[in-house]
Amino acid sequence: MNELDRASELLRRARRVVAFTGAGVSAESGVPTFRGAGGLWEGRPVEELATPQGFAADPVRVWRFYEQRRCNLARCRPNAAHDVLARWQDRFAAYTLVTQNVDGLHEEAGARHVLHVHGSIWTVRCTRCGRERHEPAAPLPEVPPHCPACGAMERPGVVWFGEMLPEAVLDAASQAAAHADAMVVVGTSAVVYPAAGLVQIAASAGAAVIEVNPEASALAHLADVELRGPAGELLPRLDALLAGAPA
Ligand code: APR
Repeated sequence: MNELDRASELLRRARRVVAFTGAGVSAESGVPTFRGAGGLWEGRPVEELATPQGFAADPVRVWRFYEQRRCNLARCRPNAAHDVLARWQDRFAAYTLVTQNVDGLHEEAGARHVLHVHGSIWTVRCTRCGRERHEPAAPLPEVPPHCPACGAMERPGVVWFGEMLPEAVLDAASQAAAHADAMVVVGTSAVVYPAAGLVQIAASAGAAVIEVNPEASALAHLADVELRGPAGELLPRLDALLAGAPA
């Protein structure tokens, strides 16, 4: 039995399924990943662009970086991997889609109730009153944007290095991982914690772990099945097998 068949067997037996995604699921939509060749962090001072300290030191520079990402993302559309992961919300008895991505492409593909452990690039938050709002404009009318309520500068609604993840979201994701029959890990290097810890929670709770990634992630040793290739090609084939069609 090949790996795709094994993966479909495991998923066919699963009632509670968690999909956990990273930047790789959006790579075929033209969104750069973070690490590796051509990654966003390549040659860029992460600590100056994606930390609260970096923002405090030079908010305009950080906003220019996020504004560029927003404008690039605004031109990107979901790919076949996003479509499958959205469709699976109606395939399994219990399905939870957890993403590290801030791009919003899962929702654009029709996914509901996505757990965003690293926030969203389309949300901004006031640095004084804490008011959050959805800001889809790309380009922004002004950079940095300012709070319509108190006038103070807003910051990107993403989770930066050294910041806590949204507690309720992380709790919901951890609960889902702890009770999963299967976890599909798509397009993450699994090196950033606590998000990557969700894979360990699922594996130690006995879930079948299926990794979809051209390369082995840092947690590939926890995988029962490794599907080596692009998610946009492999997930539709896996979905076809689940639907009883040839892959
Ligand atoms: N299909 C599936 N996986 C892919 C594809 C593809 N088409 N292309 C690349 N990948 C894989 C890479 O092999 C790599 O393992 O996607 C992974 C991307 O890893 P990272 O760039 O490290 O992104 P991610 O794991 O999501 O990063 C985690 O780090 O920078 C922070 O907050 C940011 O959420 C992000 C977190």
